[in-house]
Amino acid sequence: MKLNSMSKCISPVIVALDFPTPGAALALAARLDPEHCRLKVGKELFTQRGPAILEPLVQRGFEVFLDLKFHDIPNTVAGACRAAAALGVWMVNVHASGGRAMLEAAREALAKSANRPLLTAVTVLTSLDAAALAEIGYAAPPAAQVEKLARLAYAAGVDGVVCSPQEIAIVKEACGRAFLTVTPGIRPAGTSADDQSRIATPAAAVAAGTDYLVIGRPITQAPDPAAALVAINAGLGIRA
Ligand code: C5P
Repeated sequence: MKLNSMSKCISPVIVALDFPTPGAALALAARLDPEHCRLKVGKELFTQRGPAILEPLVQRGFEVFLDLKFHDIPNTVAGACRAAAALGVWMVNVHASGGRAMLEAAREALAKSANRPLLTAVTVLTSLDAAALAEIGYAAPPAAQVEKLARLAYAAGVDGVVCSPQEIAIVKEACGRAFLTVTPGIRPAGTSADDQSRIATPAAAVAAGTDYLVIGRPITQAPDPAAALVAINAGLGIRA
């Protein structure tokens, strides 16, 4: 089994290609360089276009995070992970709240693939604050819930978690530095928070020890998305 880790990308930024049509996503990708960012394909684009959207991105040399957040019974999630691995993506994810057996089934399914993607588990969506969590039955504050789910994911042998930038230190403390954190909810100073609740700037998230920054609208909705990425990388000391 070979892990997809021979990366040529020098930036921790993963650009979220959240577009309603493949044309817009591919047009943006054409202006970006695989050495300066990775790409994330999520539910909107994948539901619209299917696996066909991945091929031109992978062909151009991008490492692609397929963000479909699988959450189902273990057998179904294992099958979905196997299918995702066959698409040549760099990272796939599941919901940690799917439980230990589901996480282990995902890990075991991917372990058998020839070129295995990284497996991350979503802890608590970055759009949820304490009140929203309480409404769906989680009494613990977001940080405590994230820690609990990160420990579960770590014990199940997953590579890392998706969490908010505000929980990076908690996760690293609980599970060790090598356990990956992938953090959405990134907002450069002066940009809109949109629907995200638990946010931080790119520099603050990197200083807190995160491994990957997922950034969507601050890049995709910028007047010049490629320039927005260059500025974010420059702010992290990456000349691209
Ligand atoms: O536009 P914005 O930077 O808020 O995009 C964040 C991206 O990260 C979206 O694609 C969203 O689906 C994803 N995401 C998230 N929170 C999570 C997991 C993924 O915002 N917990």
